[in-house]
Amino acid sequence: MKSILVTGGAGYIGSQAVLTLAEAGYRPITYDNLSQGRREAVLAGDFHLGDLSDEPALDEVFSRHEISAVIHFASRCCVGESMDDPRQYFEQNLGNALTLLRVMLRHGVDRLVFSSSCASYGNPVRTPMDESHPQNPINPYGETKHFIERMLRQYERAYGLRSISLRYFNAAGGGLDGRIGESHHPETHLIPRVLGAAAGQERLEIFGSDYDTPDGTCIRDYVHIADLAEAHLASIRRLDRGRPGGAFNLGTGSGYSVRQVVDEASRVTGSVVPFELAARRPGDPAELVCDASLARKALDWTPRYSDLTTILETAWNWEKNRRY
Ligand code: UFG
Repeated sequence: MKSILVTGGAGYIGSQAVLTLAEAGYRPITYDNLSQGRREAVLAGDFHLGDLSDEPALDEVFSRHEISAVIHFASRCCVGESMDDPRQYFEQNLGNALTLLRVMLRHGVDRLVFSSSCASYGNPVRTPMDESHPQNPINPYGETKHFIERMLRQYERAYGLRSISLRYFNAAGGGLDGRIGESHHPETHLIPRVLGAAAGQERLEIFGSDYDTPDGTCIRDYVHIADLAEAHLASIRRLDRGRPGGAFNLGTGSGYSVRQVVDEASRVTGSVVPFELAARRPGDPAELVCDASLARKALDWTPRYSDLTTILETAWNWEKNRRY
């Protein structure tokens, strides 16, 4: 059985990937410092509590297991926070990636799947965005993702470390069987906030209603975490087959506005979602929608759970029965 090291395997997307890998017959080895992740979210494989900056601890994990590839989720991932405190992003996202790559090379592990982001593109100059869209990130979070992608190209050229960078659009939804789901503190993402408002626990503000979009609110491309996890599995298999790496967008190609999300959430929950219109949030582009044709072709990937109704139903199921 092949062991895959999953950094950040206790996080929102990582915990789903751990389950998907295990179901596909791999042995996931989670390495997580639990700064954002939850121990209860790791439902398969081994778990190691550790920080990526702790090189001896990471070395020990690589010595103990026969790791064939790494999926690197662990990262700070809030755009707003990266503007307020960029140091954390450069020190942790870049510093930890360097350490991880060094340890991988030392142990002869030459396959990596990296969590990148549509934030690496910056403001769209055309939509939908394909992978050839210019990458001009507008915040430190996106800058770190973009820079790691560039580093990976050099590591492949110079050291033969092959990698796939997956540029997620808006990750969303709850685990299909309700055992895992989104749990950020504080929660800034739209869907959990909308559902919190539906449950009467949160006050929802819609950030901006004067964008150049049909209903004036921002449009995003929401992709279910189970579909994201399938793309990671497909990426591991592609690298295992010796196929070239590269960067792939992960999204559906369909965008929904904030108002559409709110309306569909009212239908799914059976409660009118109360909201207030508020000022724009700095740094929000009007529309982020991807062209995922390359991932569909190269990874043979078709999103199966990323229609808005399934995303909201699974997220609502999680909200009603949260384990953490
Ligand atoms: N929004 C609201 N009210 C809220 C929360 C969000 O109106 O309470 C709006 C935002 O302004 C945005 C949309 O809902 O227009 C989606 O916002 P999210 O915060 O859910 O997601 P983002 O599009 O800002 O962020 C996502 C990922 C980031 C990634 C980014 C790329 O979460 O990791 O896309 O732009 F970097």
